[in-house]
Amino acid sequence: MALAIKYSHLVGCLKNKNMKIKNICCIGAGYVGGPTMAVIASKCPDINITIVDINKQRIDAWNGPLDKLPIYEPGLSEIVGQTRDKNLFFSTNIDAAIKNSEMIFISVNTPTKTYGEGKGFASDLTFIENCARQIAAVAKNNKIIVEKSTLPVRTAEKIKEVLESNSDVEFEVLSNPEFLAEGTAVSDLLHPDRVLIGGEETPSGQKALNTLAEIYQQWVPEDKVLKTNVWSSELSKLAANAMLAQRISSINSLSALCEKSGASIKEVSRAIGMDSRIGSKFLNASVGFGGSCFQKDILNLVYLCRFYGLDEVASYWLGVIEINDYQKDRFSSKILLELNNTVNQKKIALLGWAFKKDTNDTRESAAIYVADKLLDEGALISVFDPMVSEKQIHDDLIYLWKSKDLSDTKMKDKLSRIEVFSTHLQAVKDSFAVAVLTEWDEFKEYNWSEIQDSMYKPAKIFDGRNILMGNKSIINYYPIG
Ligand SMILES: NC(=O)c1ccc[n+]([C@@H]2O[C@H](COP(=O)([O-])OP(=O)(O)OC[C@H]3O[C@@H](n4cnc5c(N)ncnc54)[C@H](O)[C@@H]3O)[C@@H](O)[C@H]2O)c1
Repeated sequence: MALAIKYSHLVGCLKNKNMKIKNICCIGAGYVGGPTMAVIASKCPDINITIVDINKQRIDAWNGPLDKLPIYEPGLSEIVGQTRDKNLFFSTNIDAAIKNSEMIFISVNTPTKTYGEGKGFASDLTFIENCARQIAAVAKNNKIIVEKSTLPVRTAEKIKEVLESNSDVEFEVLSNPEFLAEGTAVSDLLHPDRVLIGGEETPSGQKALNTLAEIYQQWVPEDKVLKTNVWSSELSKLAANAMLAQRISSINSLSALCEKSGASIKEVSRAIGMDSRIGSKFLNASVGFGGSCFQKDILNLVYLCRFYGLDEVASYWLGVIEINDYQKDRFSSKILLELNNTVNQKKIALLGWAFKKDTNDTRESAAIYVADKLLDEGALISVFDPMVSEKQIHDDLIYLWKSKDLSDTKMKDKLSRIEVFSTHLQAVKDSFAVAVLTEWDEFKEYNWSEIQDSMYKPAKIFDGRNILMGNKSIINYYPIG
């Protein structure tokens, strides 16, 4: 009898090789953790998912009204509405969620270090290490840990070391970088180009990898789930962001040449994009890329290259960021030049503050740098963005000024010259120039004659996104390239 039970148990195990996941915990309820887990919850109704965060305000907002979620993404509130309090939960009780889960995603922020060794380049792994220590302290049974945050190569090794030297239970650490783009996060998660999972090349590592793959395969075709070793997976995420940003910097560098030579960047971009070897995506010239990832991930790549003594490779990638800084600066300088080299006490209206359309994320947005440079020149800045609050705009500028060690008096003066409006017409009224800094669709629908009528003449429109090209009603129009 005992033998029979053992045999049937063995057969069961062989049939069902992967671990059955019933409870997932995700640490970090941000732009990645929130949407990613909401989509997994909607596709895997048998799995309970708890997203935890140390930021109580953020968790309260996730549990609050659907039209006021802390993150704006098209389609997100609908998915959260369908799953919340059924199999998707938001909580600040991190210990309980860790204890109750077989799989833990780490999706916390990994900003560029602002101090010490690697300052300005390396990723700050403090938040990651804190998670690992907390998991080790409370875990009572074996767990699969999934790196969702973007991390330097070989971080999984360090996470495992922290976990294993602080706990008796067994951990498998997988790398599963997220490729969603803000503004299209939900659709990217529902229909990903690929899902990448890196696992250790050991039987237990492969078992963990297949367990996670099985979750994704609930809605992602099997051939789109790529399985690699951990280091390839970690590096692929940095490499993908570096390659995407490199295309933007390449086209932006050519936009400067177009402005000098009389060529049109729209025409050049179309001509080169139709080459099937190149393709048309990420070839739009603009005021420069922003967002929390491109700059930080490239700086991290540069740091890694330097660490391994690859100085030429590091310089190559650093060039992508240098061109981006140049582009933001060039745009602000053009406004200054076209307003007779003085914007002192002149109102300049900025339309858009988010780093791209369809998101309320403003991290590293070009608008912050353009506003700062114009404020340095004495301008009065008015801002309108359909999704970004006044508080966020102030916080972004103060964060930048603090990083530049600006005195309190200077900060106060600059802040007193920035005004945020709730309609675009209020923002543009009596301005000397309007700068379009985010490609929000609604900007294209505005009555631009009415806007220019309400401005001082000559009313100049600087289009940092080239979205108004072809609008015949606009006079004094300055696109990029
Ligand atoms: N934003 C994107 O488009 C994107 C895309 C792909 C990958 N990534 C990567 O994903 C990671 C997360 O990015 P994000 O944009 O979601 O960041 P985010 O700042 O929006 O969210 C991170 C959250 O983690 C929380 N947190 C930090 N330490 C914690 C801890 N010890 N315990 C609990 N919560 C903690 C923070 O309070 C914050 O709410 C980063 O590594 C980023 O590079 C981001």
